[in-house]
Order: sequence, then structure tokens, then C-alpha cells
Amino acid sequence: MAREFTSVGVVGLGTMGAGIVEVFARNGIDVVAVEISDAALDRGRTILTGSTDRAVARGKLAEADRDALLARISFAVGLDALHSVDLVIEAVPEHLQLKQRIFAELDRVCKPDAILATNTSSLSVTEISVATTRPNQVVGIHFFNPAPVMKLVEVVRTVVTSADVVADVEALCERLGKVDVTISDRAGFIANALLFGYLNHAVDLFESRYATREDIDAAMKLGCGLPMGPLALMDLIGLDTAYEILDTMYRRGGRDRRHAPAPLIKQMVTAGLLGRKSGRGFYTYERPGSPKVVPDEQTPTTTDPTPTDSAATKVGIGRARSELASPAAATKVGIVGSGTMATGIIEVFATAGYEVVSVTRGAEQSAKVFEAVQTSLNKGVVRGRLAEADRDAALGRINWSATLEHLADVDLVVEAVVEELSVKKALFASLDEICKPGVLLATTTSSLSVIEMAMATQRPADVVGLHFFNPAPVMPLVEIVRTIRTSAETVATAQAVTAALGKTGVVCGDRAGFIVNALLFPYLNDAVRMLEANYSTADDIDHAMKLGCGYPMGPFELLDVVGLDVALAIQRELYLELREPGFAPAPLLEHLVTAGYLGRKTGRGFRDHTRR
Ligand SMILES: NC(=O)c1ccc[n+]([C@@H]2O[C@H](COP(=O)([O-])OP(=O)(O)OC[C@H]3O[C@@H](n4cnc5c(N)ncnc54)[C@H](O)[C@@H]3O)[C@@H](O)[C@H]2O)c1
Repeated sequence: MAREFTSVGVVGLGTMGAGIVEVFARNGIDVVAVEISDAALDRGRTILTGSTDRAVARGKLAEADRDALLARISFAVGLDALHSVDLVIEAVPEHLQLKQRIFAELDRVCKPDAILATNTSSLSVTEISVATTRPNQVVGIHFFNPAPVMKLVEVVRTVVTSADVVADVEALCERLGKVDVTISDRAGFIANALLFGYLNHAVDLFESRYATREDIDAAMKLGCGLPMGPLALMDLIGLDTAYEILDTMYRRGGRDRRHAPAPLIKQMVTAGLLGRKSGRGFYTYERPGSPKVVPDEQTPTTTDPTPTDSAATKVGIGRARSELASPAAATKVGIVGSGTMATGIIEVFATAGYEVVSVTRGAEQSAKVFEAVQTSLNKGVVRGRLAEADRDAALGRINWSATLEHLADVDLVVEAVVEELSVKKALFASLDEICKPGVLLATTTSSLSVIEMAMATQRPADVVGLHFFNPAPVMPLVEIVRTIRTSAETVATAQAVTAALGKTGVVCGDRAGFIVNALLFPYLNDAVRMLEANYSTADDIDHAMKLGCGYPMGPFELLDVVGLDVALAIQRELYLELREPGFAPAPLLEHLVTAGYLGRKTGRGFRDHTRR
């Protein structure tokens, strides 16, 4: 029989503590909420009432239930108020000595059979537990932010936590409507160990001005379907907390450089820019604690920058730009290639109203692409997303060719041929001969350097990367890759075209993986390493990322969809270019690829798909 918890204590009513109080009180449990001072108590109460009022306003909580919820909470300054609770959860700042001091005090104050839990994200639960005389009753209960919303709880058992205590806490999590994964005491547990390297990397990209904060965040939201971008998430977590978590993970987790906090984080913390809670972090918020972002000096002023350089207008770039941005002006676009990406991109341009010249290697390939585009458009008609007349008009806008000479009068070329540098370079050299001046030349490469292709032409300023995502007609994101030779006008044209296609364009530099793959694949690789180290199971790791971070798929689900061979190739590319030891492909990933377990496409990857 699981133990009955009738009253619990929560220490610290900040970002996490206030949410944890709400979770317990919502589920009919009395809570004693403790802070360090009256002022801090007031702040905590405000977070709590703000959150419950929002739930009422959104129709997720009845007013009477809110009142009952709040009536279950008593507030106090100092730990003495916790003398009769069955369980305490500590949620004070991420400092070992502070937590040890509090646990020693809790040990003195709380009744002998009370369970003492910490919400630490990265500190050693074991080290915290030895500050008490009852380490077997100490456990980690790691909630996710925001606690009332996120379903996951990581239950952390140390080598001395008693099995009964773990079982009781697991049962309690179930009563709270949470899904728990029980794990041992390692820095970052599952979710943060996989999350924080990624967050730190995103800050590093921002700090090095690789892309803007808006573009980094939009890339991860739209390219990966994440609920929020990494910089917005840092603001939600709190930069001071994020700093401590990274610092602890660096020291406890094998001094992986990827966890050494990006210098900017420390500067922001020192300057009091802590994220949402202080009203300003990477973004500026309406007021401290508010989720509403307001414009500041970094907010882009216009989404459609106009080229101002008159020389550029003279050679026709400005003209091409304005025409390209309005497909109604019958602007012509050349698309080279006959694979999945080329097919999708042809459809995207044709449905957006552009006249398309599709160039493949021969009639057979053209027929295949035509059929694929037609099938896809037909699906749109069947699903009611496209009128029959629009489908016919889109198909009518596509001209089929097997010779590059037909690109002599287009205004833009998008190349989506095989991912081989020699092939792409030869193609760009030919385009340079054939195309008129001022034409924008774009490559869809996902792993090669765009500058290599630019330098195969005599017009590197006009060459840009347009990295579409698969399937192109569905995915809303395009990474616009600017090389060190790409002109501002070319970038502006690429932005205008992307917007005319109804896509969100994010601008980034010409580095391996651009934004999305550079941030996504190391995380996937880390998940494979975690599995390889037998820290947890593929199911629990997938659960942790979906329920703790709101990801649409767990890392192993995603790897099986993407293809393990594709993931390995991208990871190798990142490792070779950046020489970051932590980016070295996980041996398990290499072995699975060698064994032919490539994911869904071969029926088996991390999971066996033939039996499902
Ligand atoms: N922020 C997140 O996203 C997140 C997610 C999961 C876990 N955590 C963990 O939760 C814990 C709390 O983090 P946070 O982000 O809520 O921090 P926070 O800074 O928002 O809140 C900490 C609160 O603790 C109070 N406090 C400080 N000393 C105290 C004392 N001696 N007695 C009582 N209260 C005291 C502070 O007044 C403050 O209100 C940390 O261990 C953190 O790693 C944070």
C-alpha cells in the first residue's frame, strides 16, 4: 500500500516552487509554502495567483476550484512551519551549500518519517542527502517548467534511497497526474543532460552573431516543431538558474566544454538580465514575470528590407528582387534536380504563382517529377486545401526541360541536385555561363559550404543558400545561408522570395549544419550516448523529452524517422568542421548504421518497426 500524503511543504516559491505548490494544491493536498522573507513570500504568492487566474481566464480551472486550491495553501517564513508535513520539496536556488544547509535544517525540523525531496536540476542528490541523518529518505523529485503544465517528473534515487520511498513518490506522482521516470543520480538526469548542451550552443551562436535571436528561435520552432526556441526557453528557465545548471553539469559531467556556460550568460546574470522573472533576458517582457514579449532595440524593424545600393539596382539585382517578390509579375524560376527536395520545391514555387523551369537529366526524370508533383497537388485537392483550378494552373506554370540552356532567361535558380560538391560546383560554373546578370543563384545543400559553390562562379555576391526542409510544401522554414561574399541585396532578395512563398526565412552564416541541424543533431547524438551508457531506456528518454520539454517526438523516434545514416553523416560533418570532441558520432550510432539498422526505411533502427 502506497503511503498517503495529506500535507506537503515546499521551500522556495520562485519559478519552480510556486508552480509545484499549485500542482499539489490542485490535487487536493494541503501545502505549507515557505520562503526566506515576507517580501519573497509576497512574490511567490503573486506568481501563484497570476498562474491560477490565467487558468481561470482560459477556462481551464473553475473559479470555485481556484478558491479551494488557494485555501489549501498556508504561507510561512522559515522552515519551522514544516514540522508536521509528510513530504518536503525544496526548490531554492541551485547552490549545493545552500541546499545542504536547508536539508540539515529540515532534518531537524521535520517529523522522523517525512520524506525530504529536492527539485535540483543538476546537483548531486546524494551530496544533498548526506547533510541529513536520514539519507535513505532523501530523493530527487524533478519537476519541469512550468510545473502545472509539463507532465514529466524525474524521480532520482541515490544509492541509499530506500525502495519504499521511491515507490511512495512514484505513486504520488501518479496521483498528481504526472508521468515519472525513475533514474539514478547523474548530472542533469535525462532531460537536462540532453537539453542544456543545446541551449548553451544556441547562446553561443547568438553571442557570435551567427544569427539573430528571433531567427535562432524561429528555426528551432519551425524546423523541429519545438514549443519554443532555445533563447526564449533560457528566459523562461531563468538565466541565473541556467548558469548554475550548466556550471554544475560541466563540473560533474566530465568537463564537457559544451556545458561550460557561454560567457554571455554570466554577463547577463551580472547585469540582472535573468529572463522573464526580471522582465528582461534575451528578450524584453512587458513587466517582470510576464510572458509577453515587447519590442526592444534588437527587434527587427521590417521583415522586407529594400536594397538601397544603387549599383546593385543597375546590374538588375534590385529589379529582379522586386519582381521576384511578386510572383504575379510572371517571374521565372529555374529549379535543377529531380529528387525529393527538387520535387517539393517545384511544387512550392508553382503553387505560389511563379513560372517554373524544371531542369532534370532527361525526359524520364522529368516524367517522374511531374507525376510526383501532380500526385502531391491531387492530395491537396482531395483534402480540400487546393481548388482543382489552382492545381491545374500550378501544373500549367511548370515547363519541363532537360537542358540548362533553358535557364537563360530566369530570374532565380534553385539547385537541388545530388549532395556532391564536384557535381554542384560544375553546375554553378554552367549556370554562371548561361544565366543573365543579376540572377539569384541558390543552392539547397544541407551540408556543403555554400562559398565553395559561389566561388565556382564569377558572381559570388549573387550566390546564397536556400535550405528548405523536407517535405518542402509542408515545412514552413527556409534557412537563408549568407556566405562571406553574399551581398546584402542578394540576402534581401532571398528573404523577399521566401516570404512570397509563405515561408519563414531565417538568415544564418555558412557553417556546418546552419542553425537547425547544428543544434539538433548533437542533441540526438547525446541521446544515443546516454542509451549506450545504459543510463536509461529509449522509451524513457523519448518520454522525458516529450513530456518534460514538449518536444513533438523523442530523440529515438526522430532518429528512426530521419534515418540513422543521415544522422550519422550530418554528425560527422559537424564534427569534422568544428572539431568539437563532444560532437564525435556515438559509437552505437555507427554500429547500427553498419548493421543496416537505418530506421523506419529499413524496418529497424532503434526500434523494430516490422512488429508494430
Ligand atoms: N527554472 C527552471 O526551469 C527549473 C526547472 C526544474 C528545476 N529547477 C530547479 O529548481 C530549483 C529552484 O529554481 P528556480 O528557477 O525556481 O529558482 P528561483 O530563483 O526562481 O527561485 C528560488 C526561490 O528560493 C527562495 N529562497 C532562497 N533561499 C531560501 C531559503 N533559505 N529558504 C526558503 N526559500 C529560499 C528565493 O527567495 C526564490 O524565491 C533549482 O534547484 C533549479 O535547478 C529549475
